[in-house]
Amino acid sequence: MRCYGASSGAVRACMDSALSLGEATRNAERFVCPKGVVGNLCAYSPRAVGNAGDHLGQCGRLSMVSEPDRYFLGYREAEQDRLQRQALELADDSAWLFDRVGVSSGQSVVEVGCGPRGCLDLLAARVGPTGVVIGVEPSDEAVSRAREYVAAQGLNNVDVRVGDGRDTGLDRDAFDVVTTRLVLVNVPRPDELVAEAVAIARPGGVVAYHEVTWPLHILDPPLDAWDRLSEIFHAYADRHSVDFYIGRRVARLLREHGLLDVEANAISRIYPIGHARRMLAVDFIANLRDRFIDEGLVEVDELDALTAALLQHLEDPNTMVISNLFIQAWGHNPPEP
Ligand SMILES: C[S@@+](CC[C@H](N)C(=O)[O-])C[C@H]1O[C@@H](n2cnc3c(N)ncnc32)[C@H](O)[C@@H]1O
Repeated sequence: MRCYGASSGAVRACMDSALSLGEATRNAERFVCPKGVVGNLCAYSPRAVGNAGDHLGQCGRLSMVSEPDRYFLGYREAEQDRLQRQALELADDSAWLFDRVGVSSGQSVVEVGCGPRGCLDLLAARVGPTGVVIGVEPSDEAVSRAREYVAAQGLNNVDVRVGDGRDTGLDRDAFDVVTTRLVLVNVPRPDELVAEAVAIARPGGVVAYHEVTWPLHILDPPLDAWDRLSEIFHAYADRHSVDFYIGRRVARLLREHGLLDVEANAISRIYPIGHARRMLAVDFIANLRDRFIDEGLVEVDELDALTAALLQHLEDPNTMVISNLFIQAWGHNPPEP
């Protein structure tokens, strides 16, 4: 079951997973929401807004998140769900990074921008009962989800706090490891988050990032609609000082902030039919749709047509979807003199 685009009272599409994305996009269809409520429309189109808006009262999962929009991907409830799934999708790569930098028993670790789950479980397992993991996250909604997750898993060595990665309020020169995944690519002034991470890591402590660099996806055969959508994403990012290319310069950023022995690792994947991340661009369009339109970056009709073309292309098993390039980079503070 996937629900797209519940924001500003406008539901863009809500589709039963039994429906193909293309069918749901092209046609009005019946849909079943997570609470089992059955509705009569499903269209990736504002023409469906009236009926879908009526449906909001019945389907809690489609309710507006009233929180201020602090970062690129926003705080739709669907985005929080996606981030919880993403934690599983990226777990192996993050586990590799934590093993590589030596997160180990008894250490104190901070995860900045942990979202509703992030890497808290992976870190908690590595530091064990004598260590501690602090998650710092600005979204109240994400923090309460993360706390629920931590409690449900019995992660007694994890503490999740509301806070900003630019000014965590945590002790200086204190932590063995400070780590962040997929935060810098979403926020303006990412260097301020790096400065804070370096400041709270102890002398000799490790700072480790897992970031990405554009393009979000490479498609083959190429698709004009995706090229145009990419232009819109870039126009929005430029306007809001978000650096889609942070991944490629994150190692340099770490060196510029005084870290030593900086190393990096690159990861890319193929997303075949059925892979959750194959539809990532569609999820991101749903997150940003209202902002694209409100800021005059694209007309509604054009965005609908582009999205429909993209969905159709992604549904074709012969379309190859190559992931963005993930870059992991890490280094350590100079040791105490
Ligand atoms: C793409 S999500 C990644 C979540 C998590 N790190 C993961 O990999 O699953 C980005 C997260 O960064 C958080 N974020 C945004 N601005 C931030 C800031 N100034 N300081 C710390 N976190 C921030 C968002 O609230 C969101 O939870």
